[in-house]
Amino acid sequence: MKSAILGTGAFAPERVVTNADLERMVDTSDSWILERTGIRERRVVAPGQACSDLALEAAQRALKASGVHPAALDVILVATCTGDFPLPATACLVQHRLGAIRAAACDISAACCGFLYALSIGDAYIKSGMRHVLVIGSEVMSVITDWTDRNTCVLFGDGAGAVVLGGSQDESGILSTHLHANGGISDLIYVPGGGSRDPASEDVLSDKRCYIKMRGNETFKIAVKTMEEATHEALKANGMSAQDMDLFIPHQANVRILRAVSQRLGISEEKVMINLDRFGNTSAASIPLALDQAVQEGKLKQGHKVVMAAFGAGLTWASAVVQW
Ligand code: ACO
Repeated sequence: MKSAILGTGAFAPERVVTNADLERMVDTSDSWILERTGIRERRVVAPGQACSDLALEAAQRALKASGVHPAALDVILVATCTGDFPLPATACLVQHRLGAIRAAACDISAACCGFLYALSIGDAYIKSGMRHVLVIGSEVMSVITDWTDRNTCVLFGDGAGAVVLGGSQDESGILSTHLHANGGISDLIYVPGGGSRDPASEDVLSDKRCYIKMRGNETFKIAVKTMEEATHEALKANGMSAQDMDLFIPHQANVRILRAVSQRLGISEEKVMINLDRFGNTSAASIPLALDQAVQEGKLKQGHKVVMAAFGAGLTWASAVVQW
């Protein structure tokens, strides 16, 4: 039995931080950010708003779209690297607030690839006999962003997206998922402090080791290479050419990365979903946020084939192909 996406939903916090706002915080400019990243603005949580709050909103919208009642969920997976607490899992908080009384719940940590990792796990659960799985990508990147570091603070944003998976009744459904990792370059993008290696302390805070460190230029090159490879692998596994895909939803990290990957693959720009100008890089939320936007805009018609590809800290890279 194939699994299918029965409904999608997304949510982004109200507060908008524009490039002009960042100009007042660090030595940067709207034109530098726009040219180098394609980002115009990003959303940032209000004080007191946490990962599960965003996840809950996105989940409720996806459940409504799918017509599935929360009590019918078997599993809830939240892909995140910015959960409410180190423990318990954010998925448990969402489970309680949804009233998903039968559902098991846990978080998946694979940074920007988190949603595709969670989708792949959800797909396997449905194939092994479960009826309904809720897969959420939710991030509050603003809390692990050093707002005094111009190299990173212009890139990230907060948001959430969700899908409900169930058994497919027809040709539609998840056709493939492929997951990869290379821990040998885990220091390319990482948060050095606050975990068990370097526990939270005044020193960690004052030295800003609780924020994202990234070698941007190296990440850029590896991102282009891994996203291209992941997409080729996905196409090959399904006997497809790049022309056979109706929509390409790449992880929204940097518009130059997306353009380079699309050019290498030979995909025309109108087939590439891009919304990072409004949301920045929302890590595990980026693909489901873009997917829901594509659904809301009527871009996906029955029979369409969607290819999703991501890369992220770990280093991880992944793909999924879904027939609508
Ligand atoms: N405003 C103005 N100047 C800046 C800014 C800024 N916000 N940030 C950096 N610069 C400067 C640098 O200091 C450098 O100055 P120098 O030449 O005097 O030293 C210059 O701009 C060029 O810096 P580069 O790093 O070479 O710029 P690049 O063109 O590579 O763009 C960027 C930087 C946007 C970070 C790019 O490398 C990138 O997008 N990399 C990939 C990032 C990414 O996708 N990360 C994924 C994280 S995913 C996850 O798992 C969380």
